[in-house]
Amino acid sequence: MLEGRAAALANLAHEIESCRACPLGSFRAHSVPGEGNANAELLFVGEAPGASEDAVGRPFVGPAGRLLDLLLGLTGHAREDVFVLNVIKCRPPENRDPAPEEIAACASFLERQLALLSPVIVAPLGRHALRAFAPDAKISAVHGNPLPGGVGLPLGATLFPLYHPAAALHNGALRPTLERDMGALVRELPAARARWASARGEAGEARLLRKEPSAEQAQLRLFEGEAE
Ligand code: URA
Repeated sequence: MLEGRAAALANLAHEIESCRACPLGSFRAHSVPGEGNANAELLFVGEAPGASEDAVGRPFVGPAGRLLDLLLGLTGHAREDVFVLNVIKCRPPENRDPAPEEIAACASFLERQLALLSPVIVAPLGRHALRAFAPDAKISAVHGNPLPGGVGLPLGATLFPLYHPAAALHNGALRPTLERDMGALVRELPAARARWASARGEAGEARLLRKEPSAEQAQLRLFEGEAE
């Protein structure tokens, strides 16, 4: 049986499954609430499910998802270490951009997921997801760096925008940028953890100490082991 945060996220996923707050609820094959490690420090936020995601009810399972996994792998992380979700939970027909009223209808789900997950870094993927946290920012100007002043972030979280992996599939020239930015995001983790813990006081410090060793720490340990 799931406990605590994972159970609360699963309950929220059930609510999303039966949501009819906007017309997308009638077009979908499946809602796509998001999935991953309930204790993840890294949260990736996409725009909306596509056809592959709608077919199975899971986020980033198509070509963009495969590239996301590959990018994570380059930094020693796996999908199981992180949490992945979308701003809106149902596929817009023909993959059109989500309408403002669809984003508004889904906003409280995103808000509640963010509050439950309380990640250290929130990484919006692409301009539509970025808009949910920094309405005036341009992805081409802010990708690959922590962006101060985000809205709607959980306490102490760092906003770290990335290009959407689908953008790098359409335009191969963005691929090295995305690889570099993913590396920068992981290198930002120690500083982001410090900001997160200091915003949360003693409870934050305690949660950081309780966390499983992160992938990069585990990798470091592996290399240390080899050197011995
Ligand atoms: N693109 C997104 O933004 N989200 C998905 O889940 C898949 C592709």
